[in-house]
Amino acid sequence: MTNPSLLILPGDGIGPEVMAEVRKIIDWFGAKRGLNFDVSEDLVGGAAYDAHGTPLHDDTMARAHAADAVLLGAVGGPKYDVLDFSVKPERGLLRLRKEMDLFSNLRPAQCFDALADFSSLKKDVVAGLDIMIVRELTSGVYFGEPRGIFEEGNERVGINTQRYTESEIARVARSAFELAMRRGKKLCSMEKANVMESGILWREVVTEVGRDYPEVELSHMYADAGAMQLTRWPKQFDVIVTDNLFGDLLSDLAAMLTGSLGMLPSASLGAPMANGRPKALYEPVHGSAPDIAGQGKANPIACILSFAMALRYSFDQGAEAARLEAAIETVLADGLRTADLMGPDGGTPVSTAGMGDAILAALDASL
Ligand code: NAD
Ligand code: IPM
Ligand code: MN
Repeated sequence: MTNPSLLILPGDGIGPEVMAEVRKIIDWFGAKRGLNFDVSEDLVGGAAYDAHGTPLHDDTMARAHAADAVLLGAVGGPKYDVLDFSVKPERGLLRLRKEMDLFSNLRPAQCFDALADFSSLKKDVVAGLDIMIVRELTSGVYFGEPRGIFEEGNERVGINTQRYTESEIARVARSAFELAMRRGKKLCSMEKANVMESGILWREVVTEVGRDYPEVELSHMYADAGAMQLTRWPKQFDVIVTDNLFGDLLSDLAAMLTGSLGMLPSASLGAPMANGRPKALYEPVHGSAPDIAGQGKANPIACILSFAMALRYSFDQGAEAARLEAAIETVLADGLRTADLMGPDGGTPVSTAGMGDAILAALDASL
């Protein structure tokens, strides 16, 4: 049997730095657990622009389609601010999501016990937090037409369009209900049905899909109130389903509940391929962090946890994913801290590579 294929796109800024640590972890699973992947690497974002004049080469797009899973670091950086919008690094990532039709973006926000003091919120508000935001990722205002900057009379007008079809809402809602069934059986849908027609349709369709999931307790919340409730008492939520833009904002907010953006992974899933695996791209929620790039300061945990999500959602290796997550918990409990985690408890400062090595040691100890 051939090994499953994994396409790695390190990208820009801290992307390659955190991905180097993920490569060590992948190698460990091959050597110690017999979990071998056919790993290949390619360019995305600014790195692809520098090499090819486009943030995603067509060949890379084809390789992403063919891969069993794609793992991405981060894209973007100030160097590329001057580029035309159509070739900005972020367009490469958006093309991957759109062309692979990765409509369901899972963004967990989990508070590790060792980091409960790091949140800007009180410890009892975040300790034990474990929520999952499901963000629609291939439609809405990110992709709706018409869009552009147009002349109107004697001034310019910038236009983006929020657009959702029933089937787009239904498929992401279904993925969220399925997740809720495997978790706490609670789903909160967020939109702004009070001001947006797309929000009215969203609420109706989510309610209809919910009839197939009578065991799941479904609630609806306006997204602005949802942001407030997420900071007031986040543990009231289990799974949240929301649109592309609200999901972008709410998932960054949820990330900071847990203390650092450097901790949070994501999975972007599409329809099942011929081999039964979903089309999938895994990436940290954080960006290329230009302010700390090249200094060995980046926290690799979000990217490593993204690989854990790949083990769970693409490769049916939930137990090995849990082994990796437990190794990370051990290292955090031991007080090892990258710069972003240097908080109230002091801890032992480590570099990006130091954190990766400590996780490897904890994995070894798990055998
Ligand atoms: P960012 O996530 O890159 O950084 C925000 C802050 O969090 C910075 O202070 C950064 O140092 C810190 N941070 C982020 N990840 C960290 C990590 N792993 N370890 C330690 N600290 C970390 O967001 P930004 O500054 O708004 O965006 C920078 C660039 O990244 C922009 O070009 C943006 O478009 C891009 N971006 C890309 C992605 C992606 O590739 N998926 C996501 C968000 C932003
Ligand atoms: C994210 C990022 C992206 C988004 C950008 C980089 C295109 O912020 O993954 O959350 O807006 O979706
Ligand atoms: Mn974002």
